[in-house]
Amino acid sequence: MDLSQIRELFPVTKNYNFQDHAAVAPLSKPAAEAMRQYIDHLSQCATIRGDFYKHAEHVRKVAAQLINAAPEEVAFVKNTTEGIGWVAGGLSWNTGDNVITTNVEFPANVYPWMGLQARGVQLKMVPEQNLRVPVERIADAIDSRTRVVTISAVQYAGGYRADLAALGGICKEKGVLFCVDAIQALGAFPIDVSEMSIDFLSADGHKWLCGPEGCGIFYCNRSLIGHLKPVVAGWLCMKNASDYGNYQFEFVDSARKFDSGSYNLAGIYGLGASIEMLLEVGIDKISSHVLMLTDRLVRGLRDKGYRVVSSRQPGEASGIVAFISDIHDHEQIKQHLQGEHRVVISVREGRLRASPHLYNTTQEIDQLIDLLPSH
Ligand SMILES: Cc1ncc(COP(=O)(O)O)c(C=O)c1O
Repeated sequence: MDLSQIRELFPVTKNYNFQDHAAVAPLSKPAAEAMRQYIDHLSQCATIRGDFYKHAEHVRKVAAQLINAAPEEVAFVKNTTEGIGWVAGGLSWNTGDNVITTNVEFPANVYPWMGLQARGVQLKMVPEQNLRVPVERIADAIDSRTRVVTISAVQYAGGYRADLAALGGICKEKGVLFCVDAIQALGAFPIDVSEMSIDFLSADGHKWLCGPEGCGIFYCNRSLIGHLKPVVAGWLCMKNASDYGNYQFEFVDSARKFDSGSYNLAGIYGLGASIEMLLEVGIDKISSHVLMLTDRLVRGLRDKGYRVVSSRQPGEASGIVAFISDIHDHEQIKQHLQGEHRVVISVREGRLRASPHLYNTTQEIDQLIDLLPSH
C-alpha cells in the first residue's frame, strides 16, 4: 500500500491536517465500515448473535497477532485503565509489597496501583530526568519487596519510548512481574510480548490503533492466567457459560476469564478492522514512517527557535514530539492552528504536543512548521 492508498483509509485527511494521535485518533475507514455493517446486521437480523461472537474470536486472534501472543492470552477491555486495574486488583498482595512506576505516567497507570495503598502496598515512582526514564533508574529501584514494574511503552506527555525488552529482561531475572500501558505505542511501534518478557499489557483502541473509544485489548501471559483472579466473577468467564441455570463456579483457563459478560461488539468490530488494516500496512513500515515524520518535524521546530523536549535518541524517539515556545502562548497557538487552518495538535503539561501517524505526509509536517509563529 502506498501513502495515497493509506490516506484513502482515513477520511479525516479530507478535512484536517490531523497530528494528534496521542489524544483521540480519527476512526479509520475500515473500522467505521465494520461498525456500520455490524449495526446494520444488528438492526435487521435478530438471530445472528452467534456470528457476532464468532467474529469476536477472530478479532481476538488478530489482536494476539499484533503483540505476538496466543489468542488464549488476550481479553477485551473497555479501556486501558480497566486492564491495569485487573492486574492491580487480581494479584494477591502482602503488606510491604511495592510496585514501581515512573512519576510521569498517565493517571490510568497510577490510580489502580495507588488504590492498593489501603492493602499496605507502596507505589514507588521513579522520577524522570529531562523527560527520560532510563532502564537503570527503574532497575535500581527494584528491591526484595517489589512485585510489579508498570510503565507506559511511550510516555503520553513527553514521548519517551521505554526500552521494553531491557526492562522485561531485568524483571524476569529478578522475579518481578512486568506490566505495560501500551496505548501510546500499539499500532505505531512493534510490541512483542514474548521477546519483551511482558507479563501484562493493556491498551484501548482509540489512539494509534485508530479504532473506537471503549474497546481495547488486555494481555496476560499464559503462565499467570491461573494466578490472576478476575475482579468480576462474571457469567461469561465460567467454563459452563452457556449452561445458564447450572451455577458452577469454575473459570475458563484462558484470558477469556476476564471478559466478564456481554461484549462491546460494535467496538470489537471496529477495533478488529483497524488492527487488520495496520497489520496489512506493516507495523515496522508504520514506525519508520512515523520516525521519519517526527525527525523532520523536530528539525523544522529547532530551525524555527522552538525547544524540543522529547528525547530523540535512537530507541527513545516515538510518535510524540513535545515542544516549547519561550515567547508565545501555547493554548493560543493550538487554537489558531485548529480554528484557522484545521491543523490539529495538543497542549499537554505546559508543552505543545504533535503526534503524526501512518497517513500523515511530509507536506503536512511542513505546513505545521510553517504555520507556527516565528521567534
Ligand atoms: C499512556 C496513557 N495511558 C492511558 C490513557 C487512557 O486511558 P484509558 O484508555 O483508560 O482511558 C492515555 C490517554 O491519554 C495515555 O496517554
